[in-house]
Amino acid sequence: MQDIPINGLTGLSYLPGYFDRTAQEALCEEIRTAVAEAPLYQPVMPKTGKPFSVKMSNCGPLGWVSDIEGYRYQPDHPVSGRPWPDIPVRLRALWQDVASDAAEPEACLINYYETGAKMGLHQDRDEKTFDAPVVSVSLGDTATFRVGGLKRNDPTKSFRLQSGDVVVLGGDARLAFHGIDRVLKGTSTLLKNGGRINLTLRRVTPPD
Ligand code: SIN
Ligand code: FE2
Repeated sequence: MQDIPINGLTGLSYLPGYFDRTAQEALCEEIRTAVAEAPLYQPVMPKTGKPFSVKMSNCGPLGWVSDIEGYRYQPDHPVSGRPWPDIPVRLRALWQDVASDAAEPEACLINYYETGAKMGLHQDRDEKTFDAPVVSVSLGDTATFRVGGLKRNDPTKSFRLQSGDVVVLGGDARLAFHGIDRVLKGTSTLLKNGGRINLTLRRVTPPD
């Protein structure tokens, strides 16, 4: 576990190689099962309706969605109307390992990046509590991750996230701006069709 100081904030940790190849394959299989039940769909930006370059789905009691009306958490898939599948066991175990002080995760956002997809700098701030960290897993092609401070124009650092790496945004860094500049094509053999999957675990509501 490496703590990465950023703009005087503490609570950003980087766990390179947290999942070994066997665990990555097992996790991929669990995500494949989840996505068979809750297919990836194309979210759009609030107001403009501009499509995201990533496709999304979720697992857990709540899922993060974005449409013309705004960003929010909801218990069902926006296209099928069905409840999201359960969060895979391996991801629950990861949360217990790195976020044991926090209440159980309620949402796991599944982001799928095809070649050329990216995610602009943003804060994860649609949750009703920021007490729990955001725990993020990378699978497949390597990505360039950028992280800054609590203000959009604070200085940023970038580093590469490889398949199996975990990043934790907790403590003062819970609301740090972050994003994905690019995904490096052909850097992993994990996903048959290439690209990158990012799994983001979050607590949405205050503990009961
Ligand atoms: C996100 O911030 O939702 C995604 C981050 C990532 O893809 O690593
Ligand atoms: Fe995010």
